[in-house]
Amino acid sequence: MIKLQDIHKTFESNYVLRGVDLEIGEGQTMVILGKSGCGKSVLLKLILRLMDKDEGRIIIDDEDTTDFSEEQMVPVRKKMGMLFQSAALFDSLTVEDNVAYMLHEHTSMTQRVIADRVAEVLSFVELPGTQKLMPSELSGGMRKRVALARALAYQPRYLLYDEPTTGLDPMTAKTINELIRNTQERLDVTSIVVTHDLISAFYVGDRFALIRDGRVSFCGTPNEFKASTDPFIVEYLACGREYN
Ligand SMILES: Nc1ncnc2c1ncn2[C@@H]1O[C@H](COP(=O)(O)OP(=O)(O)OP(=O)(O)O)[C@@H](O)[C@H]1O
Ligand SMILES: [Mg+2]
Repeated sequence: MIKLQDIHKTFESNYVLRGVDLEIGEGQTMVILGKSGCGKSVLLKLILRLMDKDEGRIIIDDEDTTDFSEEQMVPVRKKMGMLFQSAALFDSLTVEDNVAYMLHEHTSMTQRVIADRVAEVLSFVELPGTQKLMPSELSGGMRKRVALARALAYQPRYLLYDEPTTGLDPMTAKTINELIRNTQERLDVTSIVVTHDLISAFYVGDRFALIRDGRVSFCGTPNEFKASTDPFIVEYLACGREYN
């Protein structure tokens, strides 16, 4: 389980997170919503300690990582797969080497076992046989799926997705949504999904958290979100519906 307690983060004069409290239960998919610039990507980076928070506690599997050194963070990070907003792949490496990257770096698995694992996760994301392709040969949706395969190869307990469906056509977005849900159900991971895509949010989310003015202003089930009378949420949903 991941617990965030009273997280604060300021960039110079920009006070972005002003006391975020959030709990993501084992096996749950938590969707994080909120306006552009409200601090969603920052929050994911703080969980992975890719940047430092100013105040607050981050508890992962009952371990308070607040005062952990870089060295102590290594095994914590290994439990987590991250799908970045840009689906960043290593452009000079093949799909296979991208997916196998963590396995080569951090395990003693043999080449043969790694090749089998890569084939397995590429099939899972419905890209079998793409091992030898270069990232430049892939479409945006394929890149996202390779990035997901790379995150899955290491069998993480937690998956953090930053806008996994943004910029994709509705059918590819649906494939990604199904993959997120299959991953949670079949591999029993705990996930955080940051998204602006309400269709995706309702498809994958067990719980929704809305960040507003630097805090979690709503946390509850998708149905509770839909039934909310908070004027901001009513407008948020209405704006989403305009395009659907
Ligand atoms: N490394 C950084 N240095 C300075 N400011 C930053 C940095 N990273 C983020 N910020 C600022 O923090 C705020 C939140 O950024 P963040 O990327 O978390 O937004 P977001 O909620 O993910 O938005 P979007 O939905 O557009 O992706 C923004 O005002 C941004 O300018
Ligand atoms: Mg973002």
